Amino acid sequence: MFSFKELTAQFTKHFNTAHFPKEPQSLYAADDYFLGLGGKRIRPVMCLMGNELFDEIHDDAWQVATAIELFHNFTLIHDDIMDAAALRRGLETVHFKYGSNTALLAGDVMLVVAYEYLNKINTSYLKSIINIFSKTAKEVCEGQQLDMDFEKMQNVVLDDYLKMIELKTSVLLAASLKMGAIIGGAGEGNQENLYQFGKNLGIAFQVQDDYLDAFGDPDKVGKTVGGDIRQNKKTFLLIHAMETANAQQKDELGQLLQTNPENKVERVLQIFRDCNVDDWARQLKQHYFDKALFHLEEVAVLSARKKPLIEIAGFLIQRDY
Ligand code: IPE
Ligand code: IPE
Ligand code: MG
Ligand code: MG
Ligand code: MG
Repeated sequence: MFSFKELTAQFTKHFNTAHFPKEPQSLYAADDYFLGLGGKRIRPVMCLMGNELFDEIHDDAWQVATAIELFHNFTLIHDDIMDAAALRRGLETVHFKYGSNTALLAGDVMLVVAYEYLNKINTSYLKSIINIFSKTAKEVCEGQQLDMDFEKMQNVVLDDYLKMIELKTSVLLAASLKMGAIIGGAGEGNQENLYQFGKNLGIAFQVQDDYLDAFGDPDKVGKTVGGDIRQNKKTFLLIHAMETANAQQKDELGQLLQTNPENKVERVLQIFRDCNVDDWARQLKQHYFDKALFHLEEVAVLSARKKPLIEIAGFLIQRDY
């Protein structure tokens, strides 16, 4: 069994190879640039862990892990266009550096290359892996659309938010584990419990992402802190503030959402603080973390084998980047 750290190092090395042709350079340089920025690589590592839970890591798990990381990077390139984000992983986003048209194509072709990796795996489970991958990819698109729809809405409630982040973020973590497990020969019960572990963990992970977008250290997060506030994103922070603020704060929040004053981020952050969002973030993360662990406990393998998964889960909700 490999630790979280070891698997991350192994995957990083494995992934650090040419995934694209040379020409046209104007397209593929954008892909290479983005992959070169790094990232935590948690999804492919989860796929490998889901696989190693049942057996030694299979070659096909590496192919699927590679496909997953490419897919994730594709979603980020497009996400940064949708979110008008200038910074990612501490450097310029692809559309800022190469223009939106190239960024769209750089993402598109990355998705296609992801499927090429999938297509290399053993035919005995190729179809079921492609089905999960495609279902997940559609869900991510649905979640991303809801995320944007919510920018224009005032009355988004916590359940709407949870559904949205489940789609845009957590199903990919869940599917990564499940695909690894399928390659490892896991039975359906184990697959499903791992999926539920990933889904609940993924919700806690996005809660932390939203928290860091507001309160993270910009040098660590590598994104423009306050970006969600500028974009009127309906994060749990805003929803909680809307629900718990006093009349005057609610009025101010309503005003701030409709305008774009210079001090918008600063003002919204102050209202967040006044509404004790820190506490709420902790509670929310803990709730989904506990649910995740419940499902992990239900997975029928020796508990010593689950150690790397518990390690990564702890990291995902405490991380500062
Ligand atoms: C960012 O994912 C997008 C979300 C779903 C929150 P990560 O935080 O895993 O991004 P990288 O790959 O490590 O940069
Ligand atoms: C992104 O959510 C989810 C996907 C990329 C599918 P965010 O928009 O919150 O991710 P970051 O914060 O830009 O990484
Ligand atoms: Mg974004
Ligand atoms: Mg987004
Ligand atoms: Mg975010």
